[in-house]
Amino acid sequence: MEQIIIDNTNLRFLINTTGSSYAFQVNNAGFLTHLHWGGRIDRMEDLPNTREIMCHRHYSPRRGEVACQEYPGWGGEFYGEPALKADFPGGVRCSLLKYKKHFMEIKEEVEELVVVLEDGGYPLEVHLHYRVYADTEIIERWAEIINHGTDAIKLNSAMSACFNLPLVDHDYRLSHLAGRWGKEHTIERQSVNQSKIILESRTGLSGPFAAPFFALDEGFATEHSGRVWFGALHWSGNWKMAVERDGYDRVSVCGGINDFDFSWPLNPQETFTTPVFCAGISSEGFGGASRMLHTYQRKHILPPEIIKKPMPLIFNSWSSMGIKVNEAKILDVAKKAAKVGAEMFVIDDGWQAALGDWWPDTAKFPCGLKPVIEQVKALGMDFGLWVEIESFEINSQLYREHPDWGMSFPGRDIYRNVRDDVNRTSMMLNLAREDVREYLYTSMRELIVNTGIKYLKLDMNCYFTNPGWDAAPPEERQTIWVRYVQNLYSIFDRLNREFPDVLLENCAAGAGRSDLAMSRCFGRMNRSDNQDTLDILRMHEGYTWLHLSRMAGGACHISDAVYHINLRKIPMKFQAYTGMMGSLAIGKNLPSCTAEELEEIRSYAELYKKLRHIPQFGEMYRVASHYDHPYAAFEFVSADKQEALLFVLGHSIQFADKVPALRMRGLDPDAVYTIECHGNNPQGGYTASINEYQPMSGRGLMELGVRVELLGDYDARILHFKRGAK
Ligand code: DGJ
Repeated sequence: MEQIIIDNTNLRFLINTTGSSYAFQVNNAGFLTHLHWGGRIDRMEDLPNTREIMCHRHYSPRRGEVACQEYPGWGGEFYGEPALKADFPGGVRCSLLKYKKHFMEIKEEVEELVVVLEDGGYPLEVHLHYRVYADTEIIERWAEIINHGTDAIKLNSAMSACFNLPLVDHDYRLSHLAGRWGKEHTIERQSVNQSKIILESRTGLSGPFAAPFFALDEGFATEHSGRVWFGALHWSGNWKMAVERDGYDRVSVCGGINDFDFSWPLNPQETFTTPVFCAGISSEGFGGASRMLHTYQRKHILPPEIIKKPMPLIFNSWSSMGIKVNEAKILDVAKKAAKVGAEMFVIDDGWQAALGDWWPDTAKFPCGLKPVIEQVKALGMDFGLWVEIESFEINSQLYREHPDWGMSFPGRDIYRNVRDDVNRTSMMLNLAREDVREYLYTSMRELIVNTGIKYLKLDMNCYFTNPGWDAAPPEERQTIWVRYVQNLYSIFDRLNREFPDVLLENCAAGAGRSDLAMSRCFGRMNRSDNQDTLDILRMHEGYTWLHLSRMAGGACHISDAVYHINLRKIPMKFQAYTGMMGSLAIGKNLPSCTAEELEEIRSYAELYKKLRHIPQFGEMYRVASHYDHPYAAFEFVSADKQEALLFVLGHSIQFADKVPALRMRGLDPDAVYTIECHGNNPQGGYTASINEYQPMSGRGLMELGVRVELLGDYDARILHFKRGAK
């Protein structure tokens, strides 16, 4: 299949994935006008001409010319959200970007179309990149802004891309992922009327109040059906998406780095490259959109060494010990962790001398970490550590040596982040500085080399406050937001290349950076600090809209920390079964567990190892939502459709209400599957036969569904389907 088709005579461009098409054309005035983003078309001739797009109800032809641009500058009669806003020498503040040329590039065997736009009055070029992979439905867009002149230009806004949606006969509905600490990835919906809706982050991180993701549908798409247009930004700092419906009912999404407090001096011959804004269309509802994003991440985003391996069963010290870790306690708990089946032993916060001083606290570990590392390895586990590198403690050696490395505005009190739970006062480092970046890179490199860790958890427990940078020239100071993020990437890109088998966890206090850019290096994410399993059922739904289920971690899944949000007590089985959909971890206080409890944990560890290949390498279907029911059901199907798992997790089932037969998805209709049920209620239920499963065909499972009897509170099953003979 030809993916990028170009009509050089009419300057029309058609980009095809298997199921969708995206098209644009240079209009008579030279602007790049969007033509189509929808289902797949094969003939260029079917596309509308630019006049049809431009004319409609605009009184002014000039206003028509600038309608529906692929990358609008600001100026003339364009009143929408610009993708580019710049100050030029001599006081000019507008920029009309017109077509100059186009060319194709091939990078790592993937074709890329580059359309070059230029400003009419100043030698500024914008290279619009469009990349499409043969094996995904996702189109990637980004821009390079190049100053070919002799004077500096000040960029005030430099977005990644503008996506225009087709005119439809309903109001679009916007769905996005909002929330806050402990309530991340909450699905929010609203109708798009004539207005501008801004989704954004200004925390300096990409979260946690919103994730850089949008989905638009005509108002009636469901989890399994209907067309959904969606997109996600690859950016871990301040971002913005302006979802706009203009006076002519044209809906667009212009997104990229947030223009709030952004300013970038673009010196002669310099290029500013925006982050990628990727997008796609699903005709299988929100579930289809998620699966497209999952495939894309599996194939093109996540570190290859990590994505090909199953996620290890982790023991993490945080929820049982807090920062009160020491050699004796760790040696003791390590033996128990190995006994229950942990494969990765992680010491969380508390092992370090101080934030900034990334060596062991000698009061807690008088012989360093060596005895611990040796024992953990002898017990057959890998070893991992926690770090929070973007801050330094006021009582650290680093602060004493480099107080000027902190982030602050001159003349203002420095902003101190006080955490009573760990008895710590710290301040953010200005990672936009190169010396800070190199110090942190070297510290992390040495830590990995000296300890042989196979897992590093990157925490970040504050947001930007007082982002001053007085050591930089005045015109550079507002670049702090962007340079900071670029330097963060630089540290972890290098570490990832040098240590490809080290599993990096993107923690950030739980989804503080829930974006695809982080997933290029980080194979695991702390989905939330909230470990309340009932809350997780909702958070996991929103989380998997964007991310792979297998990446969902946290300090623990089987733990007592579930109490700390809602003071709710949840049985271990419910915690473990929910955790098995992601990257399972144990955070229980193992030395205080009874022999029965340890045996119970061991049994979950065994089950996780037996089943994890299905959720971790298979496709995911959200069968029933906890937003709608007192239960949730998530299904995973292996790529070859030989096996599937159905997790059914219920709470507050009243009146002995029945869970309706759950219709499965994605199975081979002609195969017959045996069904093994894990987690049957030992007291039995009303309908004993429900728990005795006979083999069923894939067609039967998808048409008739499968029955699960859940009763009362925290009842859960995992059904394991295995293909038998045909
Ligand atoms: C916040 C993280 O999300 C937790 O998992 C834990 O690592 C603490 N910080 C440690 O301070």
